[in-house]
Amino acid sequence: MNFKKVLNKIKPTEQEKNEMFKIVKEILHKIEIKDTVVSLGGSGAKNTWLKDSNEIDIYVRFNYNKFKDNDSEISSILGKALRRKFKNIMRLHGSRDYFQIKYKNFTIEAIPILDIINPEDAKNITDISKLHVDYVLKHLRFSNDIRLAKAFAKANKIYGAESYIGGFSGYLLELLVIHYKGFMNLVKNAAKWKKQTVIGDKGAVRELNESKIGPLIFLDPVQKSRNAAAALSQEKYNQFIGLCKEFLKSKSEKFFELKEIKIPRNAIIINFETLHEKKDIAGAKFVKAFRFVQTQLELEGYKVLGRDWKWDYEKGIHWFLLKENTLEPLIKVKGPPIKFKKDLDRFKDKHKEIFISKGRSFAFIKREYLNAEEFIKSLFKLPTVKDNLRSIMLE
Ligand code: CTP
Ligand code: MG
Repeated sequence: MNFKKVLNKIKPTEQEKNEMFKIVKEILHKIEIKDTVVSLGGSGAKNTWLKDSNEIDIYVRFNYNKFKDNDSEISSILGKALRRKFKNIMRLHGSRDYFQIKYKNFTIEAIPILDIINPEDAKNITDISKLHVDYVLKHLRFSNDIRLAKAFAKANKIYGAESYIGGFSGYLLELLVIHYKGFMNLVKNAAKWKKQTVIGDKGAVRELNESKIGPLIFLDPVQKSRNAAAALSQEKYNQFIGLCKEFLKSKSEKFFELKEIKIPRNAIIINFETLHEKKDIAGAKFVKAFRFVQTQLELEGYKVLGRDWKWDYEKGIHWFLLKENTLEPLIKVKGPPIKFKKDLDRFKDKHKEIFISKGRSFAFIKREYLNAEEFIKSLFKLPTVKDNLRSIMLE
């Protein structure tokens, strides 16, 4: 396998890098706020971004002593300064509000943070982002390996710590590659991961909140009592281990290429539009809606053999493959054992005809929706589906 060939596809060229830096320079010039330091952040600053990304993180660091007791104000101060110089600004609500700007072909995220040296001083999780950049920059020699890890995760749909994905954040992959000293070493080690893996200062595990404990615990070298892998789900953790095992067997460039989703021939396809909200919120909501559809299908008696979705933003499709698309028209309901006379009488009152088998009563009721499509359509009207999506319909 030729990693160089993969890197050629995923690594921005010198020209693309220069183009990005030119845009960054323009933006840094435009943001003028007294007592702040404005700098490139995120994967741009860490030299770990992928070719197809057009997102630029800009950190606007405000003086700590001046704002430590009223740090929520820095969002509005930044907003005012941005509005003087840019059009197309959107204020996004997060643990602290930040801004999204459409600028030329890029999406700029301007994030107000407090300028700190000590992670303990953080008033907000984003305050620490600059310290992450500093840490990764100390290990610049791994930047290509980090790109490989990100492309590997992205191609296999396990990239992103947003709740609707539950995968690996860019920062977690950076930490993993640095910890194992390279992409191949990460793969070799992860292939051997067991049920739970703890990496880093194990003494700090006890300080973690239970909600932050999952299959992978990576104690953040920047912030000792944080699990950098807290958002990783069991499913994506297992998937990663499986992928690493497969990759070791048949090293192939295919592992770095995004596959079109293959919809099985008999699948039921649903088209949907998500709510106009921040991507991670809109994503979390549509995932919730379809989880509900799946549970209801299973409760009704359908066997879900597979499902998947494709969603970029706003419009998406979701398919379900069922063992059978129609079920028996009658549903067998269990009644009480016949020795419980009172319960049995009540059961008799409820059903026209009851049957007895092995000392237990049962009855049949008519199924309301005879096939899966009709049943799914009926779910579209329920709040968990309706309220979490903008529109939904069968294809
Ligand atoms: N961050 C974090 N944990 C997360 C998400 C974000 O610590 N779950 C911090 C990291 O410091 C990260 C920064 O926020 O570098 C910016 O987030 P994001 O743009 O999502 O990640 P990048 O590292 O920039 O990676 P990408 O190439 O995907 O943009
Ligand atoms: Mg980024």
